[in-house]
Amino acid sequence: MRVTMIGSGYVGLVSGACFADFGHDVTCVDKDSTKINQLNQGIMPIFEPGLDHLVARNVAAGRLRFTVDASRAISNSDAVFIGVGTPARASDGHADLSYVYAAAAEIADLIEDFTVIVTKSTVPVGTGDEIEAISGIGLLFWTSLIAAAGFEKQPRRRASHLVPAEYTYDKLVKNRRAEDQN
Ligand SMILES: NC(=O)c1ccc[n+]([C@@H]2O[C@H](COP(=O)([O-])OP(=O)(O)OC[C@H]3O[C@@H](n4cnc5c(N)ncnc54)[C@H](O)[C@@H]3O)[C@@H](O)[C@H]2O)c1
Repeated sequence: MRVTMIGSGYVGLVSGACFADFGHDVTCVDKDSTKINQLNQGIMPIFEPGLDHLVARNVAAGRLRFTVDASRAISNSDAVFIGVGTPARASDGHADLSYVYAAAAEIADLIEDFTVIVTKSTVPVGTGDEIEAISGIGLLFWTSLIAAAGFEKQPRRRASHLVPAEYTYDKLVKNRRAEDQN
């Protein structure tokens, strides 16, 4: 499966490297060119034990790449994960969802075919409706759905112990297509 991670921070980078290690073709996108340049030089912008080896192995295998240019990655993707930050707003402490909404709008402009959009950022209930309204994206499913299938149950275990992405993806896409036909 071709996967794009929007945001290559703690969540996007680690998840992207793990997906690549499952065998998926992963592009990690970030607006921060310093971070992307570092990653392209094999320098990890965060500390996570073993991450450098995981990244190096999958980059060398051609399954993982880093870029600031979302356009090609998104238009070729089966699934796009939104993993951008949701920092607390200084004014009221609520999550600032502007990065999530901006990413959703960007994705909506770039997708060309049936694409699953996964909101991986931590967001309050109701954000999915808002993203759908902003982007016009028809199908959204949530991290919790994937987690329910065991994806994140034990994130520190080896990748082979986790449910492959195709399981959830194929099932959801099949259901969605069946709904569309009715
Ligand atoms: N860090 C964790 O352990 C953790 C765990 C669970 C959930 N989360 C949630 O996941 C989300 C991301 O957290 P994080 O810790 O990875 O954040 P982070 O700040 O480390 O990374 C977010 C990245 O997104 C990039 N970005 C922002 N807008 C972008 C855009 N439009 N296109 C491309 N890149 C963009 C930023 O440059 C940044 O590098 C947050 O909602 C957080 O609450 C984090």
